Amino acid sequence: MKVLFVCLGNICRSPAAEGVFLHLIEQRQLTDQFLVDSAGTGGWHVGNPADRRMQAAARRRGIHLPSRARQLELGDLKSFDHILAMDQDNLHNVSSMANELGPRSTAKIRLMLSHARRSDTLEVPDPYYGGDQGFEHVLDLLEDACEGLIEDLLASGTKR
Ligand code: 4NP
Repeated sequence: MKVLFVCLGNICRSPAAEGVFLHLIEQRQLTDQFLVDSAGTGGWHVGNPADRRMQAAARRRGIHLPSRARQLELGDLKSFDHILAMDQDNLHNVSSMANELGPRSTAKIRLMLSHARRSDTLEVPDPYYGGDQGFEHVLDLLEDACEGLIEDLLASGTKR
């Protein structure tokens, strides 16, 4: 299963989602069942590693963020099975690209927090302009949603 996490800059939220997801599937010995990546709807940070503050917060939880920023491409909507958007703006942008492609867009596109179990917030807030606790909050939301996502993907896989 190919899973792509999308935010705006691809240096805070989606690289964190990618790292958390990779960490959890490794713990569960599911690594060989998934291909995981992240991308941004914007291109300002292309080539950059995750924001230092996001990396530091993740490292404190034993999570490595391997991502280098890249911009979302139309081809991603054909090659990934699942695209998880961090907020409504990201979802809107991904959906517009899907409309552009029409039936050639095959990815299932959803909000990341639609898989959350412990909160009913729909958006992962952008931590870029805030303080350290914003990065911790993003990781709390993503740990919960990634666990839910793995559970939901495995369950949908067995139904097929
Ligand atoms: P992200 O956060 O979308 O979670 O990667 C942002 C990082 C940078 C910018 C916006 C959002 N920016 O405008 O540079």
